[in-house]
Amino acid sequence: MPFTPKTPAGSVPPGSRESQRGQAAARLASLDELEVEVEKLIAGGDGLARFEGIPLFIPRSAPGDRLRVRLTERRPDYARAEIVEIVEPGQGRREPPCPFFGSCGGCDLQHLEDDLQVELKAAAVEETLRRLGGLGEALPVRVVAGRPWGYRVRTQLHTSSDQGTVGVGYHSRRSTEVVPVDRCPVLVPELESVMSSLPGHLSENGPRRLDLLVGEDGALSTAPVVPGLPHGDVRLQVGDLDFSLDARCFFQAHHQLLPTLVEVTVGEWTGQEAFDLYAGVGLFSLPLARNYERVTAVEGDRVAARFAQRNARNHRFKQLEVVSRAVEGWIDEMPEKAERVIVDPPRSGLSKVVRTVLGARAPSRLTYVSCHAGTLARDLRILGELYSIEELVLLDLFPQTGHMEVVAQLLRR
Ligand SMILES: C[S@@+](CC[C@H](N)C(=O)[O-])C[C@H]1O[C@@H](n2cnc3c(N)ncnc32)[C@H](O)[C@@H]1O
Repeated sequence: MPFTPKTPAGSVPPGSRESQRGQAAARLASLDELEVEVEKLIAGGDGLARFEGIPLFIPRSAPGDRLRVRLTERRPDYARAEIVEIVEPGQGRREPPCPFFGSCGGCDLQHLEDDLQVELKAAAVEETLRRLGGLGEALPVRVVAGRPWGYRVRTQLHTSSDQGTVGVGYHSRRSTEVVPVDRCPVLVPELESVMSSLPGHLSENGPRRLDLLVGEDGALSTAPVVPGLPHGDVRLQVGDLDFSLDARCFFQAHHQLLPTLVEVTVGEWTGQEAFDLYAGVGLFSLPLARNYERVTAVEGDRVAARFAQRNARNHRFKQLEVVSRAVEGWIDEMPEKAERVIVDPPRSGLSKVVRTVLGARAPSRLTYVSCHAGTLARDLRILGELYSIEELVLLDLFPQTGHMEVVAQLLRR
């Protein structure tokens, strides 16, 4: 992509910071390759280096790495680059254990020691919340980590076909090309063992995307259904509660950490009425129903909402009502100064209408569960005037990847 200066030439005072930055951007634009040192990891998992102050984002790099990199994208304010050579490795770099790391786009951090990944993610989340969320210096993030390998009970695969041969695997990094894989060490063994047999069950005209979920007793659910493979609802236990679902539904993949996620999110608060927005199959709604006299769970996906209803019935939680609607269409029904609200939106965070109504109705205790530090920071910046943050917890639900999960407990001032 050609470099376009952000400000027209001549309109920036010579010698100013902006002019120096413009000159640095022009120098960077003339380069193909350069040598840099990586400062730190940023939210999302890329390493950050600088060229004369301009940020360079480098996938699969490690803090302290001295690298020869090739520029892959140039923007007026930043650039992206890929590693050509590791001149000197940073501390905590290791040989990635999976042979597909590098071509497969599923993992980004296998080249870092497991403990270091968590430490760097926590630092990246803290920085994002400070910088974009406008939160002060004193903002400790509590970290909860679990099994770093063999942890996922669900996965999404893609398929390709080439002259009658079907490939099953993951998208490569930054493209939709399929990298065929026959094993994947982040999956629980019961799920990983299915992978090598999948191409044999699929025809050239089969599905392009395949969702797989494995239950407590090894039962498998696939979406869509694959002829010859077992399919059906599966059961997953979290604490002493049972959840029924199938592969079409969202469910957190790191099964081992879910009791802690529920504990940190739902807590021990009790009261009359609580709301669980973006409820999925009821991971938080069911435990909430033990602590509150009335609970409303709102879920936009009809299949997940049906399973949430079934899960409530199975536990005889008559106090739990599941509303199968988009939160945006329902939010006006939320009462003024609600006692307790949990929100667990997708990566895009809260939409403007949801943020606005939440801000206006100002529930007393608002728990925000987020899988994207940037949108969490944006939403906290807006809601932050009304709330003080009691606790921030990073749960490492996605080891070997740059993804993260943060629970923010907010209390109305
Ligand atoms: C991150 S998941 C959380 C699900 C649940 N809290 C859990 O932990 O299992 C987000 C959920 O929100 C649902 N969803 C996404 N956008 C929505 C919207 N605008 N309104 C209602 N639900 C939505 C998705 O179907 C998904 O089940």
